[in-house]
Amino acid sequence: MNYQAIIFDLDGVICSTDEYHYQAWKKMADGMGIPFDRTINNRLRGVSRMESLEIILEQYHGPALSEERKVELATQKNDLYRESLHQLSPADLSAEVKDTLDALRAAGLKLAIGSSSKNTQFILGQLGLGSYFDAVSDGNNITHSKPDPEVFLKAAGMLGLEPAVCLVVEDAVSGAQAGHAGGFAVACVGDASQAGAGDYNLSAFSELRAIALG
Ligand code: BG6
Ligand code: MG
Repeated sequence: MNYQAIIFDLDGVICSTDEYHYQAWKKMADGMGIPFDRTINNRLRGVSRMESLEIILEQYHGPALSEERKVELATQKNDLYRESLHQLSPADLSAEVKDTLDALRAAGLKLAIGSSSKNTQFILGQLGLGSYFDAVSDGNNITHSKPDPEVFLKAAGMLGLEPAVCLVVEDAVSGAQAGHAGGFAVACVGDASQAGAGDYNLSAFSELRAIALG
């Protein structure tokens, strides 16, 4: 297949911020006495901040929480998470990811981001990728988070391309489902690759070169 564009998820694909998400939620959950582990954390991949909180609260059996309190808890997590994002620098962009992106771009492919995160622009800036991508669709321009395809459809729209000529790259099962629901082919890394959720299930990011460039 000759793809014209690749739309990348951000957390867990371009960078390892998924671990920072985990640590910040873990601190919030520990503070509330809520059991939370990496298995539950895998269900948060690709899912919006407030939906992630609801998944964590499935294990909460205390007095009912008001919407205001829930927003407070999500804000507490985001503040911790943002603190850790300040440590991010261009050195956190792996050579494998950067070289692969550069090779795909040099071959004439358009490159975009499709992420549920409202922190996308900040993260891209920290990594030195602030103006690298041809389009950035993120948590700030969507009303439905993955597995809804909205974020990827908006990215393809920004590029002026149909889903059929774009490849989505994801580490989340919910993200792979979102790609498929939007009519995209999906390449998976990490957790979603292990689950076999993609049309291509990669063991290394650099395998994208062979898939996209033939
Ligand atoms: C996704 C992550 O990229 O962004 C999710 O995989 C996260 O785990 C979601 O909940 C929203 O992120 P943020 O930065 O807006 O809280
Ligand atoms: Mg992800």
